[in-house]
Amino acid sequence: PELDLEAGFDRTIEADQRIEPRDWMPEAYRKTLIRQIAQHAHSEIIGMQPEGNWILRAPSLRRKSILLAKVQDEAGHGMYLYAAAETLGVDREELTEKLIDGKQKYSSIFNYPTLSYADIGVIGWLVDGAAICNQVPLCRCSYGPYARAMVRICKEESFHQRQGYELLLAMVNGTDRQREMVQESVNRFWWPSLMMFGPPDDDSPNSAQSMEWGIKRHTNDELRQRFVDMSVPQAEMLGVTLPDPELVWNEERQAHDYGTPDWDEFKAVIAGSGPANAQRIAHRRRAHENGAWVREAAQAYADKRAGAGA
Ligand code: ACO
Repeated sequence: PELDLEAGFDRTIEADQRIEPRDWMPEAYRKTLIRQIAQHAHSEIIGMQPEGNWILRAPSLRRKSILLAKVQDEAGHGMYLYAAAETLGVDREELTEKLIDGKQKYSSIFNYPTLSYADIGVIGWLVDGAAICNQVPLCRCSYGPYARAMVRICKEESFHQRQGYELLLAMVNGTDRQREMVQESVNRFWWPSLMMFGPPDDDSPNSAQSMEWGIKRHTNDELRQRFVDMSVPQAEMLGVTLPDPELVWNEERQAHDYGTPDWDEFKAVIAGSGPANAQRIAHRRRAHENGAWVREAAQAYADKRAGAGA
């Protein structure tokens, strides 16, 4: 019977149909999905910090309401994703514990500090732009609950990217000082944005299997290339320079050639020694501990209602 189940799974994947929580799936498929969806959920939640840092210092009421809405969306994305992970038989409490114990990863990008308001625009443009590039194909992921969560998340990510680009347009049409702020921020965020796509294909242990299972639809380098090609004309529109002297159009490939990200830096950041790793985890741990009374109260209320047969 195990063989029949496995053949059924293979047929579903081959026919490019969705695997649902009730379906049989290989243990390794389940584990890979839990790993990726949990990392993705953690990224949304940790990603609230670098931007949340600027809510109280937004330069106008309009900018403040945009930023508030965006950071709240990220909390929502985290919730959809934890819910998708829970359909695989893990619970959110357990995943949160793993995050604050440093046992599960989150995106490298959120370990860089936000030093000026221009960073809010650049994160929207580059970081959310990279996220969209990576996530649109995940709407076709073979695991149904993850794919469906991604549809909604991608719509909201597009709004996030536009708000970033609109903020940058306002700044580059402002004073020299504002243009300098934008350029300085682009200089800091360009390379870390390229690293969001993960290691190069020949150093990506999970890609081949995840592509076979239809979890990933493109390799890390394919999506990175797409992002570079998309960003170049946008940078021209803004009048900023991307900090890569090797960036040049390649007529033959009909794509841009570009320099090599500092993969040693990437490895150090995902191993926990990036500029803000310790601060991000400490903050998340504190928030979790401070929220203990809310979880206890909600549990006590649920128990009471269950006891009353309501
Ligand atoms: N930051 C942190 N860790 C990373 C990153 C990154 N940018 N890129 C790769 N890694 C980790 C992988 O998780 C993997 O670690 P693990 O095996 O210990 O779990 C290791 O580096 C090797 O990488 P790959 O074999 O290429 O891993 P994978 O096939 O999972 O591909 C990728 C990585 C592309 C990030 C994939 O997991 C993915 O598409 N995830 C969903 C998108 C996501 O998480 N986005 C979050 C940031 S965007 C946002 O929230 C705004």
